[in-house]
Amino acid sequence: MVGNWKMHGRIGDNATLLTEVAAGASALQKGVSVGVCVPCPYLAQSQALLSGSVVRWGIQDVSAHTGGAFTGEVAAQMAADFGVTYAIVGHSERRAYHLESPELVASKAQRAIEAGLTPILCVGETLEEREAGTTEQVIGTQLEAVLSTLTEEQAAGIVVAYEPVWAIGTGKTARPGQAQDVHAFLRRKLLEKGATVANVPLLYGGSVKPENAEELFGQKDIDGGLIGGASLQSKEFLAICRAAQTVTH
Ligand code: PGA
Repeated sequence: MVGNWKMHGRIGDNATLLTEVAAGASALQKGVSVGVCVPCPYLAQSQALLSGSVVRWGIQDVSAHTGGAFTGEVAAQMAADFGVTYAIVGHSERRAYHLESPELVASKAQRAIEAGLTPILCVGETLEEREAGTTEQVIGTQLEAVLSTLTEEQAAGIVVAYEPVWAIGTGKTARPGQAQDVHAFLRRKLLEKGATVANVPLLYGGSVKPENAEELFGQKDIDGGLIGGASLQSKEFLAICRAAQTVTH
């Protein structure tokens, strides 16, 4: 279960949130892994407060470059200096507002892997694409761009998050069956890359709340969640984490 704080947080509030999440997560059953992807300036704070806890921390984007004259960019290796485990790549907000192409996202995933980070590759269709019946085509292209640059072993080490753009921050969640259909499609595509790749964790993201978490995570191919808004409140985020431990499949 991974929280995506997006551009939220202040140093004082974060301390409370991180401490509460760490305390709550330690009471979860084994088998539920918890992470939080925080804004870059708070990586050091996350490292200080989460080291030794069961909660891992991550970055929300990385540069496609390893270093150099790229003002404002953050290299995956820099994040690794702060003990980071996860790097979200290809979030729909990056694709939409920063015009990130599938190829650029693939380079970012590559840099993350080289730095020893686990990329969380986000894929998802817009409402127009869903209504036009091109969901699988869009998602297939986004996934394939990354998989084609990875070895089978590298691909087996990533995490994939399905986040329908129309469900992010809108309060509209994909129906569990709708999400499951896309997850099953992703699983088939991953299997084409290799048997071990089919086992990568598939997260669902888009308005996950304590009220809908159990039904979503109960779907066969939904292994966890990428949680935006609800990860900013420890009570909500931990309730979602607890919902994950009640389902088995
Ligand atoms: P949301 O965001 O839970 O606020 O919809 C999910 C995400 O964008 O990762």
